[in-house]
Amino acid sequence: EDRTNASVMETLLTDKIDGEVMDAAGAGLKVISNYAVGFDNIDVDAATARGIPVGNTPGALTDATADFAFALLMSAARRIPESNRFVRDGRWKTWGPMLLLGTDIQGATLGLVGFGRIGKAVARRATGFDMRVIYYDPNEKPDPAIKATPVDFETLLEESDFVSLHTPLTPDTRHLIDAEALSRMKRTAVLINTSRGPVVDMDALYEALRDERIFAAALDVTDPEPLPTDHPLLTLDNLVIAPHIASASHTARGNMAWMAANNLIAGLKGERLPHCVNPQVYG
Ligand code: DGY
Repeated sequence: EDRTNASVMETLLTDKIDGEVMDAAGAGLKVISNYAVGFDNIDVDAATARGIPVGNTPGALTDATADFAFALLMSAARRIPESNRFVRDGRWKTWGPMLLLGTDIQGATLGLVGFGRIGKAVARRATGFDMRVIYYDPNEKPDPAIKATPVDFETLLEESDFVSLHTPLTPDTRHLIDAEALSRMKRTAVLINTSRGPVVDMDALYEALRDERIFAAALDVTDPEPLPTDHPLLTLDNLVIAPHIASASHTARGNMAWMAANNLIAGLKGERLPHCVNPQVYG
């Protein structure tokens, strides 16, 4: 693709934008507008060094993503996809007291890794289920409007019935959920990931699920995306999986489009982006 004359870039989270790509776009590149709130696909330092503002879409998908995280939580806890397969495969013969028993949600402890916009929105939903909410986030202070208790990472892993990930992907959070973290979780626990795939070590997760060292996992994001169809994780009944669609509601995707377009237009006009992740470019 010849981008020699490009002056703006509208990018998807699947586009890896590094300094080389920026240079290939030419000195006239005025803005990179990412159609996502996460921006780990962009080398922001390289953009800043070149004076290029990078835009994202914070807030647009908070509720849609929190809804979906909760849908995954309930699906994994109550084994809904597995039950669906069970019926369709003709395996349902009769009602049984022990058939497809799941995990209770009401009154359980929900541990949020990341207590930003989306983590808080999940916490608000959890109050409707009388859940005890704890969170780990070194950067966020308690929010008096939300009943949630800050704890350290180890306590969160050890006390949570559900661990839900809402952290950006950074060098610090890559493989945050590794074999060691999984081994600290309860055998009855459920892991939910709607953040970024590489926050979880996929091989360690496979082993933990296969050996039933945790009850289940529900992933909207994986590493890589998509997972190869012969990936061992896909052989497991205690894995619920979706193709990175947590923000895929009509409202959220529409709002994301407006925000990304507004960032793009502002950049083109040389104005400050309404949502800029590297405001240092404005001095
Ligand atoms: C985002 O905006 O970062 C989401 O992952 C898109 O679904």
